[in-house]
Amino acid sequence: MKLSKRLQHIEQMVTADYSHIWDCCCDHGFLGASLLSRQAAKNIHFVDIVPELITTIESKLQQFYPHSLSDWKTHCLDVAKLPLQQYQGKHLVIIAGIGGDLMIKFINDLYQKHHKMNIDFLLCPVNQQFALREKLIALKFGLKNEILVEDNRRYYEIILVSSTSDANRTISPVGHDIWQSVTAEQASVVKQYLDKTLKHYNRVQQGSAKHLDYIISAYNSKV
Ligand SMILES: C[S@@+](CC[C@H](N)C(=O)[O-])C[C@H]1O[C@@H](n2cnc3c(N)ncnc32)[C@H](O)[C@@H]1O
Repeated sequence: MKLSKRLQHIEQMVTADYSHIWDCCCDHGFLGASLLSRQAAKNIHFVDIVPELITTIESKLQQFYPHSLSDWKTHCLDVAKLPLQQYQGKHLVIIAGIGGDLMIKFINDLYQKHHKMNIDFLLCPVNQQFALREKLIALKFGLKNEILVEDNRRYYEIILVSSTSDANRTISPVGHDIWQSVTAEQASVVKQYLDKTLKHYNRVQQGSAKHLDYIISAYNSKV
C-alpha cells in the first residue's frame, strides 16, 4: 500500500532508536505497517478505538508479517489509555489525522499518567495547530523536529517533540523551522499556508467576540 505524501513524511521523521512505536488512531494501519516493513523499532503497536478496524489489521498482520523481525501488537483502545508503563524502553507515540483538540486531550491524559517517563510524540493534527503548540509549551515539552507538508492542497504541520525539554529546542507557538524554505517549491507552500492561516484567524476574529490579535500578530511576524 502506497502511503499518502503526508504519511510518507511522518514515516520519514522516525529516525531514532525506539523500543516501542505506537501508531495511534491507526485506522487501516498503513503507517504502522510501513514502519514494520522497515523494522523501525523492536515493537510496533497498532491502536484504534474501532473494533472492526483492529480485527482487520490483526488478520492482515498475521497474513503478511507472521515472522517479522520486529514484534507487532494490536490494541483496540482509547489513545488516552495507552498502557505505556507495561512496556520497558524508549517510546514513540505517533498521533496523526485527528483534530488538534482531541490530540490535546490525549497528550494531556498521557502526560498526567506517565509524567515520569521520557516519551517522544510525533504529531500531525488536521487543525488547531496553535492551540496544540501552546499545550506542548505549557507542559514544557522540547522540540526535536518540525516540518510543513502540502498534500492534495491541504497543509500539515508535523511536529516531533519530547516530553522533556532537556537537550531539545524550545517550541514556538506558531512554529519556526516550518517557515524556512530552501527550494522555490517549498517557499510557495510556506506562503500559501501562511496566507491560509491568517485568513482563517481573521475570519474567526470577525465572526466572534474572541480577541485573537496575539495569534494573528504571531503569524504576521512570519510574513
Ligand atoms: C482519520 S483516521 C487517521 C488515520 C491515520 N492516523 C492518518 O493520519 O491517516 C482517525 C482514526 O482515529 C480513530 N480514533 C478516534 N478516536 C479515537 C480514540 N479515542 N482512540 C483511538 N482511536 C481513535 C478513528 O477510529 C479513526 O480510525
